[in-house]
Amino acid sequence: MNVLDAIKTRRSVRSYTSEAVERPVLEQLIHAAIQAPSSSNAQAWAFGVIQGAAALRGYSDRAKVFLLSRITPGSPMEKYRARLSDPNVNIFHGAPALLVVYVQPGATSRPLEDCALAAQNIMLAAHEMGLGTCYIGMSQLFLNDAETKRELGVGEEYQAVSPIIVGHPKEGTPPVPRKEPVLLFWK
Ligand SMILES: Cc1cc2nc3c(=O)[nH]c(=O)nc-3n(C[C@H](O)[C@H](O)[C@H](O)COP(=O)(O)O)c2cc1C
Repeated sequence: MNVLDAIKTRRSVRSYTSEAVERPVLEQLIHAAIQAPSSSNAQAWAFGVIQGAAALRGYSDRAKVFLLSRITPGSPMEKYRARLSDPNVNIFHGAPALLVVYVQPGATSRPLEDCALAAQNIMLAAHEMGLGTCYIGMSQLFLNDAETKRELGVGEEYQAVSPIIVGHPKEGTPPVPRKEPVLLFWK
């Protein structure tokens, strides 16, 4: 698959088979991630991996409770209250693996850009390998909770930026229509 085809056909996958994604494959994805450009070539990313759909289900249940407890009336999270209250909802969509891109504090002036570019490399590389991915922004707050970091062995100073689930897609995912690009100037 060439890069343009990968860009055009990548989709956010939210339905996975029970097939595991093994460590060497996840390592390959991490190696794709670190090829991304980074501000001042800081390469200040770090990675965390959770393997196993059951483990992720457990983290999803905890993340939902965590998030529900932090929704205040009128907050932008309010629209997710019903979803987060539904016991059938798994924010990790039943995926067998989660790859989290963290940033080291103070090591780069552009942590969000650096991690997002690394995340896109992961998603495109996985797609090329026949795997599905989805960016799970919903899990970011929970992953950045001090207790979660302590449990995962992540130093408090690290910031979780890009959580990406990875797995074998159960079914084809239809494309999401794109809006026409807004062209502001072309001098
Ligand atoms: C920063 C970011 C956060 C996202 N968070 C979630 C999420 O929590 N759960 C989810 O199912 N999809 C999430 N997505 C996926 C988007 O919904 C998806 O990219 C969008 O609908 C377009 O679909 P496509 O990726 O198939 O082109 C996120 C995407 C981005 C870039």
